[in-house]
Amino acid sequence: MTLEEKAKLVCGMGMTSKKVPGAVGSTYEIPRLGIPEIVVSDGPAGLRLGGTFSGVKAVYATAFPIPAAMASTWDLDLLNKVGVAMGAESKAFGVDVLLGPAFNIKRDPLNGRNFEYLTEDPYLNGRLAAAIVKGIQSEGVGVSIKHFAVNNQETNRMSINEVVSERALREIYLSAFEYVVKNSDPWTVMSSYPKINGVHGAQNKYLLTDILKNEWKFNGLVMSDWFAVKDPVAAVNAGNDLIMPGGPKWGGQGDTSDDVLAGLKNGTIKEADIDKNIKNILKIVLKTLSFKGELPTNKPDLKANVEIVRKTAAEGMVLLKNESSFLPIPKKARIALFGVTAYKSIAGGTGSSNVNKPHIIDISTGLEKAGYTLNDRFKGIYTKYMEFQNDILDKHPESADWEKLSYYRTVIPEMDLSKAESIIECESKKSDIALIVIGRGSGEESDRRLEGDFYLTPEEKLMIEKVSAQFHSLGKKVAVILNVCGVMEMNSWKDQTDAILLAWFPGQECETAIADVISGKVNPSGKLPMTFPVDYYDIPSSRNFPMVGHTNDGKNFNYTNYEEGIWIGYRYFNTVNQPVAYPFGYGLSYTVFSFREPRLERKKDKWIASIRVANIGEVSGKEVVQLYVSAPQNSIQKPSYELKAFGKTRDLKPGESEIVKLQFTDYDIASFDEDDSRWFTSKGTYMLSFGSSSRDFKAAVPFNVNKDKSWKVHDVLKPVEKLNVMRLPVK
Ligand code: GLC
Repeated sequence: MTLEEKAKLVCGMGMTSKKVPGAVGSTYEIPRLGIPEIVVSDGPAGLRLGGTFSGVKAVYATAFPIPAAMASTWDLDLLNKVGVAMGAESKAFGVDVLLGPAFNIKRDPLNGRNFEYLTEDPYLNGRLAAAIVKGIQSEGVGVSIKHFAVNNQETNRMSINEVVSERALREIYLSAFEYVVKNSDPWTVMSSYPKINGVHGAQNKYLLTDILKNEWKFNGLVMSDWFAVKDPVAAVNAGNDLIMPGGPKWGGQGDTSDDVLAGLKNGTIKEADIDKNIKNILKIVLKTLSFKGELPTNKPDLKANVEIVRKTAAEGMVLLKNESSFLPIPKKARIALFGVTAYKSIAGGTGSSNVNKPHIIDISTGLEKAGYTLNDRFKGIYTKYMEFQNDILDKHPESADWEKLSYYRTVIPEMDLSKAESIIECESKKSDIALIVIGRGSGEESDRRLEGDFYLTPEEKLMIEKVSAQFHSLGKKVAVILNVCGVMEMNSWKDQTDAILLAWFPGQECETAIADVISGKVNPSGKLPMTFPVDYYDIPSSRNFPMVGHTNDGKNFNYTNYEEGIWIGYRYFNTVNQPVAYPFGYGLSYTVFSFREPRLERKKDKWIASIRVANIGEVSGKEVVQLYVSAPQNSIQKPSYELKAFGKTRDLKPGESEIVKLQFTDYDIASFDEDDSRWFTSKGTYMLSFGSSSRDFKAAVPFNVNKDKSWKVHDVLKPVEKLNVMRLPVK
């Protein structure tokens, strides 16, 4: 290869592709050497091709439930199937690498991309992501696990300095990537926008070479996030193999590769070094369908994927409350349906994880399709209101393509029912139950807000108050469906309801999946992948999240201090015994399960646990067994509980039982000692708790680790600045 060809090959061709119109990127082809263009496109909720960003006509692909919903299934087999479906669809359209899964830790509920991520727990994160990776790659399509690393906010994402302790980095922010790299052989990793302790992810040698390639033995290619590279020479030398999207410089003159060629010529890039990047790229090129000459059919099996979407969406729904088994609702029930989102429902989030959909059918239509009778008067009022509001939406051209309805829910207010008391009173007499749908949009490039987003809007509060008071005065029940992107405040209103179903953004089968659970066709088995706190400011990270926490220098927000360290989610709330609205791992069912015969034994270098789960209720259902380890407290503070294994039963009929077998290793339960840059598992007596959530333990078994074990790693990525990492009050 000539120097020019080498410089070109380590940069993409821009947000375009010759082979697949509408793809978000491609690599440089060198026909004389038989090197084809490699096509990459988003994303974590299905294949995005075309649409406003590309100026190419939108290509319709299957819109899967958002990853937050996928995570709530806790079902590795199902997520593997989702991956296979995504991989097959990418292959059919000629895409070589699908840019996902995205699994940055959900550090703070206000992160605008949490809907696109999986969970607050690194153990669950890694296992779920690995299942998706294996599924996608089984179809001969590569993945790009992202965003490596610490991409936990959207505010100022391209220049923010994420200041994180070495222990929090290793135990919380890198751990899932380590597991996925070591256990599912991802073809590519996408380096991230922010600085991590002072150096941008895409230019961070400690991160990309010392840890990812030398320590974890990653043998694929690292591509940057789009326009993440400020200094191409630094990126090449740091081990970022491919600078994306490449092509014409963003807002500048010339081509991205010009800087690389200059670096090769002036010696700031050694040819021996860029040859490493070239080798990593060519290794992946050889795996691709493009290299193998497989032609796209452009005929994916969209019909088969509909079933997977519907099943995953329903399995990802979390039943948070169900007083006196109010749900499921019998078909003969006359429903008074409230909430604009019931009549304009949300299938996905905005940004690069958007999937172009031909239509989104709303929840009201889904309920009627399922055989329910909706109160005509309210249906008419809301439909009229929506028509008027749509005019506002049409004035927002920026929402034209980006998942219009998701953007919609952050633009158009809930209808004000303050003057509708008499109508509610009159119509409640003609209805059997009330269903209220609350919606929230969310998307890339901006974080969520507190007022009217994390907290209910005044109109939503009033709607729940009025409807609940009136229906309860007649002895009739009220359920709330959350068609939302993530965590929100619940405590101030949940007692006014009889049932709450967290439906997330269910993807293109939104209306059918919700009707499947409301009607009991599917028994909900989802479990929360993230804590719902009582209040936002109960969360340790709230002190440092931009806009709501510190402002270090006015509007710039040029750093975020991760002062909470490892105290994320249930690790914090359980250890300090802080009440929460709904705990990590929580989710109800229409049936009841018992946990019996807990067992734990040591086999060679593994701990093997098992427990018998029986369905002692009236309907079939699935349960998730969660194993939490409590370690002996010693030199460093450890969380009171840490998830170290989980498993979901098959669909158990009433009276059936299943022995769930799980395993973990001494390395899995290790902590990170940043003074010595090593993982360690100290000898002592540990406790293994068998739970159906992080706060509902059915059995506990002690076990002994007989000798200290430790695993040395590179002493890198310590924060440069002094970081006051939170220490919990010693009990
Ligand atoms: C975006 C996102 C990344 C996506 C890429 C290409 O800015 O951060 O997740 O894959 O650019 O669209």
